[in-house]
Amino acid sequence: ASFEMIKTEKKGAKQNVAVVTLNRPKALNALCKQLVVELSQAVEDFSKDDSVGAIIITGSDKAFAAGADIKEMLNKTYSGNFKDGLLVELEKIKKCKKPVVAAVNGYALGGGCELAMLCDIIYAGDKAKFGQPEVTIGTIPGAGGTQRIARSCGKSKAMEICLTGNQFTAQEAEQMGLVSKVIPADQLLDETVKLCEKIASHSPLIISMCKESVNVAFESTLEQGLRFEQRAFYATFATEDRKEGMGAFVEKRSPNFKNN
Ligand code: HXC
Repeated sequence: ASFEMIKTEKKGAKQNVAVVTLNRPKALNALCKQLVVELSQAVEDFSKDDSVGAIIITGSDKAFAAGADIKEMLNKTYSGNFKDGLLVELEKIKKCKKPVVAAVNGYALGGGCELAMLCDIIYAGDKAKFGQPEVTIGTIPGAGGTQRIARSCGKSKAMEICLTGNQFTAQEAEQMGLVSKVIPADQLLDETVKLCEKIASHSPLIISMCKESVNVAFESTLEQGLRFEQRAFYATFATEDRKEGMGAFVEKRSPNFKNN
């Protein structure tokens, strides 16, 4: 597919890391409908591409994404939002079975912060700025901000971030557990590609089972989550890749995973 507001490419020594770059510089990658449709289409395309082991979503040095497009939202109505499913496209990205990693430089505000948080891992450049400024424009986060910050950082941080609208730094985001690593801005993409190459060196099948299992931690009680994990662990014993992985260890050689 050809896109206007994003760029897509493959990176890494084995070209198995997909990179989707938000590219709407004049609006700081504000998430208008077209951009979000293109983004979710690209993620879906890469999720069907067997050569791709992980997907990176990134933006520019100035902005990962400055939020939903305020000019586009200005005259929206409740029924209009409800009917055109404003947030459906973002939910599709969340459902991707392959690991999706956000590489955040610059502003990740509002829907931009939420987009980063619906990815599986966030790496941030040292100049990145996060925030949920919705209250400053008379609305509230709508793509998971109130829920995901509360779950990953606790109530007090979530309340402070969502109720003040204040921006916070990459370092603060790391301290509160929202971001897994802060990296000098100019090395961010390379380091994120390395992370994804490491992930992509494992069995894609097992990786997606593992991703699914971690995600259950956000959707269930501990007891249900533990049971899910246990079943998924047992299920890996029905795969060729589990046999190959353990066999390779015992035979002191590298595994050759077949995604099976
Ligand atoms: C539409 C936006 C935009 C946005 C920036 N622009 N953010 N357009 N929607 N969210 C546009 C500006 O209008 C301007 O274009 C151009 O991008 C550059 O922005 P400036 O403001 O001139 O840049 P700067 O002074 O550097 O300030 C950067 C900024 C500021 C701090 C990021 O742009 C800002 O506060 N943006 C809004 C952030 C925000 O409130 N986001 C939450 C939105 S609500 P023109 O052509 O006008 O000069 C939301 C709800 C999510 O996200 C719900 C679920 C998806």
